[in-house]
Amino acid sequence: MTEREPIGVIGVGWVGAVTAACFAELGHEVWARDIVPEKIESLSRGELPIHEPGLSELITGNAERLHFTTDMQEVVDHAQLLFVCVDTPPTYSGDADLSRVEAVIAELGDSDEHALVMKSTVPVGTGRSIQRRREGIGYVSNPEFLKEGSAVADFMNPDRVVVGANGGSEQYADRVEALYTPLGAEVVRTDVASAEMIKLASNAFLATKISFINEIANVSEELGADVREVSRGMGLDDRIGPKFLQAGVGFGGSCFPKDVQALKQLAGNSGYHFQLLTAVVEVNELQKRRTIGKLQKHLGSLAGKEVALLGVAFKPDTDDVREATSLVLAGRLAGEGAHVRAFDPVAGAKAEDMLAGARIVESALDAIDGADAVVLVTEWPEFRELDWTGEVKRRMRVPLVVDGRNFLDREQLVEAGFTYEGIGR
Ligand code: UGA
Repeated sequence: MTEREPIGVIGVGWVGAVTAACFAELGHEVWARDIVPEKIESLSRGELPIHEPGLSELITGNAERLHFTTDMQEVVDHAQLLFVCVDTPPTYSGDADLSRVEAVIAELGDSDEHALVMKSTVPVGTGRSIQRRREGIGYVSNPEFLKEGSAVADFMNPDRVVVGANGGSEQYADRVEALYTPLGAEVVRTDVASAEMIKLASNAFLATKISFINEIANVSEELGADVREVSRGMGLDDRIGPKFLQAGVGFGGSCFPKDVQALKQLAGNSGYHFQLLTAVVEVNELQKRRTIGKLQKHLGSLAGKEVALLGVAFKPDTDDVREATSLVLAGRLAGEGAHVRAFDPVAGAKAEDMLAGARIVESALDAIDGADAVVLVTEWPEFRELDWTGEVKRRMRVPLVVDGRNFLDREQLVEAGFTYEGIGR
């Protein structure tokens, strides 16, 4: 049992916390380091600063194997494989900001018995550049493919594990690969640059799939087709597959918008104009705004109108509001002079200062009370459970619903006298 390779995790944000907890669950001693003392203190008490199903249980259940610290030395003393999980936010230019990765490298110095295992999403070429500067340090690219809201399950049941290494680092890559053996997933062993590209290309492709179906939805609205039927019919084709074909109010989150932009910039920096990704971004921006037109179609001017936003998080089962469609919608609605009340089961507090002009309220019914329209932005299951035909209808001034995720029961709502606007139907 104690033979298992000890693991270092640098940066205990969302990816770092999931990585640390899951390796501990697999039986490894894990030393996880972050520079924010409050975060380390609360994690050491078993308290999680983020909402991620199942993670809290893993952290408390494996407390004896999980060592949270602010001290880098403690990590390098115990572990040779150092999983780098710091964030790489976009800079003003749209390139990835690698300053936190660079800070880790600077702290590590020229150790020749450690390997950086890069989980942070970095531009293609980052690994090569680090290896050129720090020949002694091992370097393995091991990108993550975790979805917020199901990250623990994604870690434990991966579709594939990607491990990229060059030359002298192959021995470290063998050790990284071995860590995942109990999960039984197919391992893609490759070079560092290809591993880095697999990560960016996967996110860019999924974002493209969403923008594609959103455009099909918009055309379907014009031509009388129902995009849900179209997705079903397309998704049964093995070559296409049913996932990520749900039309909606656009993709958000900390990954797709950032990574699509980063890949586009990366291509541009090397002289290649990635035209498709330019369209993917633009379609998504417009998709986030289309709701305004749907509201105006029924309400005319939105000045002084009461609009309820159900859901603020960029997707269900997370409290993350980064790049969420709710932010764009709140801003646009405020611009049109509407009064916005928003409710989210977990992300409300985080969104307090970010939702331009909107008031965050305590319950869905508080948001709906006296509303001229309800916009469903995030498909939290509890929104489906609301008493739409009774309490909700009674409380609304105008029974207008824009279902931004095609999530509610259209037939039931229409029968009860609602005006229903979905996406692409
Ligand atoms: C995404 C990828 O799915 C992960 O594989 C990747 O590891 C992660 O980014 C990352 O790079 O860290 P995430 O952003 O957590 O994961 O969430 P997704 O489930 O991919 O959803 C992203 C956005 O797309 C959400 O706003 C969601 O509502 C939207 N979406 C998703 C759609 O509009 N339609 C769909 O069919 C699927």
